[in-house]
Amino acid sequence: MNVQDIQIIGVIGAGQMGGGIAQLAAQHGFRTLVTDVNIEIAACAKDKIADILGKQVAKGKLPAPLEPVAGLSRLAEADFVIEAATENLELKLQILREASARARNDAILATNTSSISITRLAAVVTRPDQVIGMHFMNPVPLMKLVEIIRAVQTSPATYETTRSLAVLLGKTVVTSEDRPGFVINRMLIPFLNEACFALEAGIATPEDIDQGARLGLNHPMGTLELADFVGLDTVLAISEVLHKDFGDDKYRPPVLLRNLVAAGWYGRKTGRGFYVYDDKGEKLKNSFG
Ligand code: CAA
Ligand code: NAD
Repeated sequence: MNVQDIQIIGVIGAGQMGGGIAQLAAQHGFRTLVTDVNIEIAACAKDKIADILGKQVAKGKLPAPLEPVAGLSRLAEADFVIEAATENLELKLQILREASARARNDAILATNTSSISITRLAAVVTRPDQVIGMHFMNPVPLMKLVEIIRAVQTSPATYETTRSLAVLLGKTVVTSEDRPGFVINRMLIPFLNEACFALEAGIATPEDIDQGARLGLNHPMGTLELADFVGLDTVLAISEVLHKDFGDDKYRPPVLLRNLVAAGWYGRKTGRGFYVYDDKGEKLKNSFG
């Protein structure tokens, strides 16, 4: 598959990342099919995108149509498939297996996983040379980077097409070898965990930890705020992969993070994490006061 042959992009998972990827693809003129565990979730993602883009999608004014589809069967139409479902190894193995069985022989299967071995995912499909990591950053439409990860099995042609597609989508590419967390999350997750350890140790309030990152490090968001934005379930899942696959305790997830996830406090997407949020995602107060 050459980049100029890509006309239809299939996106699996219509959460914050899948929704963002679908928006980006449609805005760049690709016919885009989006699927999730049920068609209502995919349709809801389309409505959210319509809101963001000032109803352009609803009025059919996007350069290309964005179509919610049920299940993976319509993926047979896609030239390039991007998996962006929940960060869970067993789930991704199952999705990759099924997507590979349904996809066209020449379609590339990319995964947006934040940490899981691309090589391991590629090992369960029929054409492992056409599997690659295409790691977008959150929020997808605004962030400039895509990290591309080659599995042991990824062919040079698959890499070249994926890199060219990322550039066509307006992104700058960095390339990583297939190691847990690749480059970005190997750096980010210990940083997010450390903010949580500092909070757990009672060193400072959530607000002061976050103000420290914003004004002391010039980060656009506070560190705990960023963890809430990513999703604490996702931060924990990545942390567990890093910890297990490197076998190094420096990546161990904080107990406080485990507890927040166990409570169902996943951050902004559930309305509560380190902070409590209103319906519009505006931060109201910290969760502990
Ligand atoms: N699509 C299109 N446009 C959008 C948009 C969307 N989804 N969301 C917002 N915009 C537009 C806004 O309308 C606004 O437009 P105008 O300037 O014309 O008004 C513009 O983009 C800026 O929006 P905001 O004012 O909301 O943006 P901000 O300046 O407050 O920045 C932010 C928001 C980009 C999220 C910034 O806070 C930031 O960079 N935060 C850190 C994000 C980060 O670190 N991401 C990486 C997470 S880690 C990761 O992704 C990897 C992983 O595996 C976990
Ligand atoms: P999310 O929780 O917002 O969305 C996950 C979506 O996957 C949900 O809509 C869920 O219903 C769907 N899903 C679950 N099982 C499915 C299945 N069998 N088939 C289809 N869809 C299914 O999570 P997210 O933040 O969008 O993360 C998605 C992926 O992107 C993860 O692998 C994550 O690690 C990665 N990622 C996340 C971020 C981030 O900052 N959140 C950044 C880069 C990459």
